[in-house]
Amino acid sequence: MSPEMTAHLLTEVLPYIQRFRGKVVVVKYGGNAMIDDELSRTFASDMVLLHQVGILPVVVHGGGPQIGEMMRRLGKEAIFEDGLRVTDAETLDIARMVLVGKVNRDIVGAINVHGPFAVGLSGQDAGIITASARDPKLGFVGDVSKVDATIIERLLAEGLIPVISTIGADTAGQAYNINADTVAGAIASALEAEKVVYLTDVAGLLGDVDDPGSLINRTTARELQDQLDSGDLEGGMIPKISACVDAVNGGVNSAHLLDGRVPHVVLIELFTDSGIGTLITAEPYIN
Ligand code: ARG
Repeated sequence: MSPEMTAHLLTEVLPYIQRFRGKVVVVKYGGNAMIDDELSRTFASDMVLLHQVGILPVVVHGGGPQIGEMMRRLGKEAIFEDGLRVTDAETLDIARMVLVGKVNRDIVGAINVHGPFAVGLSGQDAGIITASARDPKLGFVGDVSKVDATIIERLLAEGLIPVISTIGADTAGQAYNINADTVAGAIASALEAEKVVYLTDVAGLLGDVDDPGSLINRTTARELQDQLDSGDLEGGMIPKISACVDAVNGGVNSAHLLDGRVPHVVLIELFTDSGIGTLITAEPYIN
């Protein structure tokens, strides 16, 4: 890159740093970006970069593949009911050990290579996530019934990066495993975040699922709601898309669906005019 190009790039960043300084950006971390060692290191340093320019990142993570892998290692068979995976007490224990004890620690560790910034929490800590059973047949799979973001706000005020694993508890203290996409959106709404960012294993929202070139650069929550209602969206993306729609309708300024396989994807999206993934806002976006 020529020095002129570098200078141009750096000046493009300034207005975004000014605009997002002091604002909360909730990042749902998962997929390849979390499994690949190099990408996880890059992700951690990107979160530190956001933090160092005054943006307030909050990391929310799941860990489905890691839970599946541990179940295989322990020789625990997955149980299905009407095609849906059942979380029995033993599976819940494995999920808690893997999410809270391993995945969360790995993320905190990777961030803290750069300085003492990250603090790991589970949704049970300080009552962040109150959960309720989705369907007794599915065991301990929960839905979010309430978010209390007080502890997250306190940590942000202390200059820390909260890293949250998505285990919640009901009012009797029973723990549940909760979909991390949903939790990220709910936490972003509760924090009145500037952004909620989803790292996925696809380029973003595609106009045509079979054509990687058909990436939708920006759209509105209303258009996506229409597509959700008409049922012509690809299955795997539905929880992420509805979480984006709910977050934007819940007051979050913008939601972003990004390709976590691209190194530094969050920086490219936040600090350039055109971005790299799909941007979702309430009103058509004006730059
Ligand atoms: N950097 C700006 C932002 O974060 C614009 C991003 C535009 N992204 C897009 N996919 N159209 O708000």
